[in-house]
Amino acid sequence: MEKLIINGGKDLEGKIQVKGAKNAALKIFPLALLTKEPILVTNLPEIEDCRRAEEMLIALGHRVKKIKHGTVEIQFKNRTCINLPADLVNKFRASILFVGPLLASCQEVYFPHPGGCVIGAGTRPIDMFLDGFSKMGARVEILENNYRLTAKKLKGADIFFPKITVTGTESLMTTACFVDGVTVLKNCAMEPEIPALADFLNSIGAQIQGAGTPIIKIKGVKELKGGEYKIIPDRIEAGTFAMLAAASNNGEVLIENCEPLHLEVLWAAFDKIGVNYRLSKNSISILPSKKILSYDITTHEYPGFATDLQSAFTVLMTQAHGSSLIHETIYDRRLLFCDSLTQMGANIIMADPHRVVVNGPTKMHSRKLVSPDLRAGMALVMAALIAQGQTEIDNIYQIERGYENLAERLKGLGADIKRIKE
Ligand code: EPU
Repeated sequence: MEKLIINGGKDLEGKIQVKGAKNAALKIFPLALLTKEPILVTNLPEIEDCRRAEEMLIALGHRVKKIKHGTVEIQFKNRTCINLPADLVNKFRASILFVGPLLASCQEVYFPHPGGCVIGAGTRPIDMFLDGFSKMGARVEILENNYRLTAKKLKGADIFFPKITVTGTESLMTTACFVDGVTVLKNCAMEPEIPALADFLNSIGAQIQGAGTPIIKIKGVKELKGGEYKIIPDRIEAGTFAMLAAASNNGEVLIENCEPLHLEVLWAAFDKIGVNYRLSKNSISILPSKKILSYDITTHEYPGFATDLQSAFTVLMTQAHGSSLIHETIYDRRLLFCDSLTQMGANIIMADPHRVVVNGPTKMHSRKLVSPDLRAGMALVMAALIAQGQTEIDNIYQIERGYENLAERLKGLGADIKRIKE
């Protein structure tokens, strides 16, 4: 088992590069099922979830060749299976994105309920995916341990999402590229990863309009070509590094290779709480601030305050003057990590599973911790970096699902952090 050992309280300054976005990268592998031509993927983050997506694609009959760090070429070999391998499906929720393209190309697919971070009610539902495929003409059977979807021919459909869903929007948008007729998706998610995916699909022959707005129209086509997809920078990583720099508040931190426009909600919050920052086209500078003030946030779909940034903001508020209400509206288990922050000295009152009040500023001290999930795990790393003493964080597979080479990159800012194997 690997763990992180962090000696906190060190000054952080210098430069850090943002990697490609996990939640954009994961979507390129399933769509490769829709073309026989090669796809070159660049700026690919080398993280565990992407390795699982590569393994899934290989299991389904593709070749994934590493060209150099962060660049792979995907090429169809032969279609080998209609079962999504359970051991892979169990490891990451984005595995659900393979279902539609496989159904469109093989007319049948079996898969168990997808895994991933345990952050939402029960086993994070997939009803909106199943309803969408059913509207496209698929027969959906719920078996004892599997779902079975069959469709001789999928057809375009009018689909309204009762709740905004990111992967649901991406899944049905991608599948609709390859079905007969026109599909209209309504009440779609607008996260930047969605127009990025649509732009790439259009560049290889798809006909998608409206991605990045609540209504997306897709005209099915007979075939898709190959092409090159450069993964957009990870806005969650960039925002998290910005909050880490603001919370440690000692030197200048330059965050490079990012897209500040994808984080406007965070800059609006920084303006309110007094963080001293500068934006340029592809970088963010966080400078020492006089005093950080408290601020209430409510998580919301893009362009609102991303749930994936909530845990880092909660840590930042432990260093702010005053009381902040953190209202997590998307997932009901995403505030449970606050118990670990409280053990580290934070003053946090849990009002209910969706709301906590953080009273700051508080001094944080070291603890032995276990990373509960990806974003909470990263928030604990952040807390350990600002705490006094040595913190040990276990179960870092969860963190490495989404952050490439984290310890080495943070060392570049002056952090005292080691990844060890036991
Ligand atoms: N939902 C349903 N039924 C469905 C699908 C979703 O009720 O069929 C509910 C979920 O339970 C949740 C809400 O809808 O309450 C939103 O879920 P959504 O489907 O948008 O989440 P997701 O697509 O599974 C993506 C990201 C998440 C990110 C959310 C929200 C990927 C691979 N995952 O998840 O990223 O938190 O959107 O922005 O793109 C992460 O990176 O740590 C992460 C969890």
